[in-house]
Amino acid sequence: MKIDVFTLFPEWLDWFRGQRHVVNALSLGHEVEGLDLRATTPLKAGRVDDTPYGGGAGMVIRVDVVDAALSARWGADAVEGRGARRVVALAPGGRQFDDALASDLAAEQELVLLCGRYEGFDERVHEQLATDVVSIGPYVLAGGELAAMVVCDAVLRKLPGSLGHGESAVEESFSPALEGAPEYPHYTRPAQWRGAGVPGVLTSGDHGRVREWRAEKSRLRGQRRS
Ligand code: 6GU
Repeated sequence: MKIDVFTLFPEWLDWFRGQRHVVNALSLGHEVEGLDLRATTPLKAGRVDDTPYGGGAGMVIRVDVVDAALSARWGADAVEGRGARRVVALAPGGRQFDDALASDLAAEQELVLLCGRYEGFDERVHEQLATDVVSIGPYVLAGGELAAMVVCDAVLRKLPGSLGHGESAVEESFSPALEGAPEYPHYTRPAQWRGAGVPGVLTSGDHGRVREWRAEKSRLRGQRRS
């Protein structure tokens, strides 16, 4: 999988690329690249934004700037190019990111993430250049970069081989294997800590009962949240 992250701060991704599971994914041939929106801007002096029509505070990232960045990367028209790949604009007002969308995106060969700053993108970026507009939750961040890294993280760990064990991403919180519920609780040594012990079933050696207990705990956690 190849992920292109368009941003005003491509260097933010350097830290992310150094994280263990990302290093694993990259060594398997996956790619995560940060692309600077200023590098291809058609405006003078590296300008990428402008004041909003209708007035109001803040600045808006221009659609022609994003168009130029995508067209340069693809060597093709940006509006036509989105037919060939998922182009996700990150914006607080978008569809909320979840495990199902992470799995969906993990099935793509190529993924493009567009990170807004300031007041975000001109709406025509969402309508005509992006295929999806995605938010990571109901709060506002200063920009889409952290959201893009959240999406990359959740997507990359779905790819076979990027975790230590092939199974670890299958039966985890919110996965179909747990019917969308949060994961069951985990315990490890010490068996006693400040008077708090470990559920006996986990040390019973009875794998069938362990499985049942975990499924039940996961189900109960799911009910508590909804
Ligand atoms: Cl994708 N962007 C920004 N700026 N804020 C957010 C977000 C995205 N998702 C939640 N808050």
